[in-house]
Amino acid sequence: MAQVSAALKPPVSAPSDAIPQWTRVELSDQTFDVLVRLVYTSCGVSLSRIKKTMLETRLRRRLQVTGLPDFESYLRLLQTPAGAAQEMQSFVDTVVTNETSFFRERAHFDHLNEAELKRLVQNGDGRTLRAWSAACSSGQEVYTLAMVLDAVASQSRQWDWQILATDISVKILTAAREAIYRTEDVAPVPAALQERYLLRSRDPDSDAVRVSPELRGRVTFGQINLMHAEYRVKTKMDIIFLRNVLIYFEPQVQHDVVAKLCRHLRPGGLLILGHSDTTRSGKLPLRLIRGNIYERLED
Ligand SMILES: C[S@@+](CC[C@H](N)C(=O)[O-])C[C@H]1O[C@@H](n2cnc3c(N)ncnc32)[C@H](O)[C@@H]1O
Repeated sequence: MAQVSAALKPPVSAPSDAIPQWTRVELSDQTFDVLVRLVYTSCGVSLSRIKKTMLETRLRRRLQVTGLPDFESYLRLLQTPAGAAQEMQSFVDTVVTNETSFFRERAHFDHLNEAELKRLVQNGDGRTLRAWSAACSSGQEVYTLAMVLDAVASQSRQWDWQILATDISVKILTAAREAIYRTEDVAPVPAALQERYLLRSRDPDSDAVRVSPELRGRVTFGQINLMHAEYRVKTKMDIIFLRNVLIYFEPQVQHDVVAKLCRHLRPGGLLILGHSDTTRSGKLPLRLIRGNIYERLED
């Protein structure tokens, strides 16, 4: 019989104990339901059954990191006070969706033209325009707004600006503070703004771009869970961005979150929601101007 050369032999499958346990375990419907309640109580996000595979895939990474053998053990960890103190933030960081981009929904930034910004400043304290990005993700929304505000403010030199940027995820806030992106991420930024506000890496092999210290220095980052009743923001805002987060909440949570944000918005100020976000604005002191841009009315 002719000998089969080693190179032609069929691949030998790896012994099953060489495959890490966390890649094989499955998320049962029962455990999924309890995890869904935990996601809801921790960040207000409602996950339907169709999100089961997504949750399973994302939480597998936590099994790998924690070294736990299955989702049931992971759930038990989250249910103990010591385990929750250790793991709950990473759980939240893992389950939230952080999709974002520079100049996302450009019409919102087009609305913030010179005349509108001047109106907002005069409507406010006349000196500093204060904006809040209330679910800021990795910072693209924040720095887009920063570029738009700075480009106008530096021309007139009559007013200044500041941005508060918050999110529930500590991990994503670290990325936002760093403000380092890839060249392809900043492609939607107009060339003149790129030239003025983005710094290229000195390393010719790197495609990293960093937002200028001039803009970064005017942004204050912090963790705020919009679900928490007790969060405090000291100053009244002239603009609040709350985009592409309400979509993950139940109608009642949406209403409560927006009602609370309205208390931090100056009458005449703007609340800007994402294109797919909805809220029962009829019951709130808000007037729709256009394309999910609302003006705060007097109480
Ligand atoms: C899809 S991103 C939207 C980012 C940005 N606003 C935009 O439109 O591009 C949603 C963000 O909401 C944050 N988030 C989810 N639940 C939250 C909560 N209860 N409080 C604060 N932020 C939350 C997530 O961490 C995530 O960064």
